[in-house]
Amino acid sequence: MKVLVIGSGGREHTLVWKIHQSPKVSKIYCAPGNAGTLRIAENIDIMADDINALATFAEGEGINLTVVGPELPLTLGIVDEFERRGLKIFGPNKKAAEIEASKVFTKDLLKRYDIPTGRYSIFDSAGDAKRYIKEIGVPIVVKADGLAAGKGVIVCHEEKEAIKAIDSIMEEKVFGGAGDRVLIEEFLEGEEASFMVFTDGKNILPMVSSQDHKAIYDGDKGPNTGGMGAYSPAPVITPDICREIMDRVMTPAIKGMAAEGRPYKGVLYAGLMISNGSPVVLEFNARFGDPEAQPILIRMESDIIPVIEAVIDGNIDKTDIKWREEPSVCVVMVSKGYPGSYQKGNRIEGLEDVERIEGVEIFHAGTRLSQGNIATDGGRVLGVTATGIDIKEAIGKAYEAVSMIRWDGVYYRKDIGRKALFVMGSA
Ligand SMILES: Nc1ncnc2c1ncn2[C@@H]1O[C@H](COP(=O)(O)OP(=O)(O)O)[C@@H](O)[C@H]1O
Ligand SMILES: [Mg+2]
Repeated sequence: MKVLVIGSGGREHTLVWKIHQSPKVSKIYCAPGNAGTLRIAENIDIMADDINALATFAEGEGINLTVVGPELPLTLGIVDEFERRGLKIFGPNKKAAEIEASKVFTKDLLKRYDIPTGRYSIFDSAGDAKRYIKEIGVPIVVKADGLAAGKGVIVCHEEKEAIKAIDSIMEEKVFGGAGDRVLIEEFLEGEEASFMVFTDGKNILPMVSSQDHKAIYDGDKGPNTGGMGAYSPAPVITPDICREIMDRVMTPAIKGMAAEGRPYKGVLYAGLMISNGSPVVLEFNARFGDPEAQPILIRMESDIIPVIEAVIDGNIDKTDIKWREEPSVCVVMVSKGYPGSYQKGNRIEGLEDVERIEGVEIFHAGTRLSQGNIATDGGRVLGVTATGIDIKEAIGKAYEAVSMIRWDGVYYRKDIGRKALFVMGSA
């Protein structure tokens, strides 16, 4: 079969890599892709949100299955358009993707179905929001309602930060219409973790757990990024907590979406705070996490294609996934300056040597081929992902590989995975 993967990040290279291993697949296209996907797929120069062009390409090329990586096309209704044209596609439709497109929608859903989440209030006027902040004080979390490329949430430890956040979101409209409403949420203490499931709208098949590192600097300091690295499993998600996530979060969320006429099909991602030993929902995403997809999919032993087909056909209750026991770690290498401004077009060296190391994969994100060389082309550039006998070995292997890769202005965190060692009490 012919498969089209939509997107150009580390998550999409990982999906292409995993799909490539399926004996059912004869050809993969990636739109628009990067210098990593190029080697096992044909890159197609269509942007991920150009829904009509993508559907027309899929029709013309006789694509048998399309897999959507990023949230934007999902929230714009790519699944609805492909289905209207009779094309097979993996992901939630527009009404179901509302779970990521609107934080206000999701908070109200959580409340209606009694799913644990932080207390919150919703405002559509800056004046009311500011009065509320002054009344209840800090710490507090200010969240723009809509999509803001991971920049719409501000954790405020001082009142003036919170007021400034309201000004920029609601008055200056730095995220456009995404800031017409804000959510003000109680600050939750605890350990963050991600949990993803495959669901066909009725049945749920969990993946292994993972943990991201959002902040740019070691020790979780500095501004938040798209993600600086991740590992799997997350020891903080014990078997008991895993059961609680399935029973108190995933099952009621999927049932609730179906009951509200928004049956949810695809990957559902819960961003969680494990607070006093219980999971509390921070958000849902309508797709794989990036970089969580990297350490998770590298541990997936089963063919992913039958799982994706079962999600689309509505029978994942008859499917199973085999996972490798070995833990994994992904270290994200970025361009200096990210998440602010950074240079592009710097030549990357050392990739060939790393490709020879057993148990290490380099997943490309912001890269492109330029005059025969691989060059940087974004903030997050590579996700160096390794498995090991234990988390310690996986960390060692990932950093050994990272140390062999160079370009002008490379930056990465030195402490990815350390938290997992700490939780397990072996560091
Ligand atoms: N209620 C909260 N208490 C403490 N930290 C929070 C809270 N909500 C969000 N955060 C922090 O902000 C980050 C981003 O928030 P999230 O809801 O995941 O939005 P998004 O991923 O859309 O930016 C989280 O990963 C977490 O670190
Ligand atoms: Mg998040």
